[in-house]
Amino acid sequence: MERILLKNIDAADAGKVATYLRNGGYKGLDAAFKMRPEEIVQIMKDSGLRGRGGAGFSTGLKWSFIPSDPSLPKYLLCNADESEPGTFKDRLIIEKAPHLLLEGMMIACYAIGAATGYIYIRGEYEYGARILEDAIAEASSAGYLGRNIRGSGFSLRIYIHRGAGAYICGEETALLESIQGLRGQPRLRPPFPAIAGVYYKPSVINNVETLACVPSILERGPRWFAGIGPRKSPGPKLYAVSGHVKKPGVYELPMEVTLNELIFEHCGGMRGDKAVKAVIPGGASAPMLAGEDLDSPMDFESLAQRGSMLGSAGVVVMEEGTCMVKTAYIINRFFSHESCGKCTPCRDGTPWMTQILKRIEDGKGRPGDVELLESLCTGIFGRCFCALGEAAVMALRGALKYFKEEFYDHIAQKKCTVSTDGLHGF
Ligand SMILES: Cc1cc2nc3c(=O)[nH]c(=O)nc-3n(C[C@H](O)[C@H](O)[C@H](O)COP(=O)(O)O)c2cc1C
Repeated sequence: MERILLKNIDAADAGKVATYLRNGGYKGLDAAFKMRPEEIVQIMKDSGLRGRGGAGFSTGLKWSFIPSDPSLPKYLLCNADESEPGTFKDRLIIEKAPHLLLEGMMIACYAIGAATGYIYIRGEYEYGARILEDAIAEASSAGYLGRNIRGSGFSLRIYIHRGAGAYICGEETALLESIQGLRGQPRLRPPFPAIAGVYYKPSVINNVETLACVPSILERGPRWFAGIGPRKSPGPKLYAVSGHVKKPGVYELPMEVTLNELIFEHCGGMRGDKAVKAVIPGGASAPMLAGEDLDSPMDFESLAQRGSMLGSAGVVVMEEGTCMVKTAYIINRFFSHESCGKCTPCRDGTPWMTQILKRIEDGKGRPGDVELLESLCTGIFGRCFCALGEAAVMALRGALKYFKEEFYDHIAQKKCTVSTDGLHGF
């Protein structure tokens, strides 16, 4: 498949406006200005684009929820928090194709009637934030931001807001709170952000990759986009692959690609040619899959059918010999550390799970610990304020689904029963 999102990232000065314009950039915006905003929303619906931030919600439908009342200020928020362990795809767009993201934001703002856009970027992406600041300055000097952009009558300002290292701030309502200067904790819904978002005004929140898909849809048409990959999961997709593969990295592919193809064709196979033991297909929140699932296409539907999810498409590949108790412990420790504390099941349940997993891994597990973990999962799942606690449960349930015997062995033999000491890198 031709590269669409990563088309020009290898060019010298890929992030400069002159390079972007030379390579055909900002044509999607020019096309958008010839249309009415509601036509653009329809085009987005027709393209079938689904959000790349995790939930896979229709982007056109999301934009259509914004009230048309011209007296209301509206906002676009680009979610560049990218804190899901195993996920690093948005970073490439931010660092190497900042104008593609800005162009997507400009079109989105024009379509929903927003005069202000924010990019909420994780604090650790300091380099990315600087690249974006420079790109905004260049776009403004070139007349693509500011007042009456290219004589269209449309005016727009885009601001960068840097996070301070909290995973929860990627959750869209916690992001809204954080940008308002409040503690980063999720809000009760309804009202949904389309009605009461940032500053309690109508807002759209979209992921970086979602917005980066927008310019090509305007330029080449929704039918072209809808024709790429599976019918229900169309368009180009970025997969961030890490773990025990020979060539980790970010790969742009249609979503019909299978895990097998991703690992063995694109990533050069497994380090030391070992067998695949497990794969996390969509960031740490996504339940892991095992060797028998490698024929699964990497799209929203197929992964859901296998009991997992595409999530953020952060693919973590683990070889034979990886300890699943330690892996589950490391993942769970992350969620428990990042729990914002707002709701009891997540605040109290995730550290309890971590404590049990730690003692099993340390050879101090007790008979009944696996059952206790399972009952904690039941106690947490579906009872949390947001999806963070559920993510912790889903990750653990995935490990227990395929590797429960490993947990029992650790308890019975009072030590780690797997040769290597777990997945590194989380
Ligand atoms: C705990 C948690 C963390 C999240 N982190 C991110 C993130 O870093 N980036 C992101 O785009 N979406 C993240 N999401 C999903 C957002 O809430 C939201 O669905 C997404 O930004 C919407 O954009 P999209 O429709 O373009 O996918 C997170 C969700 C949860 C529950």
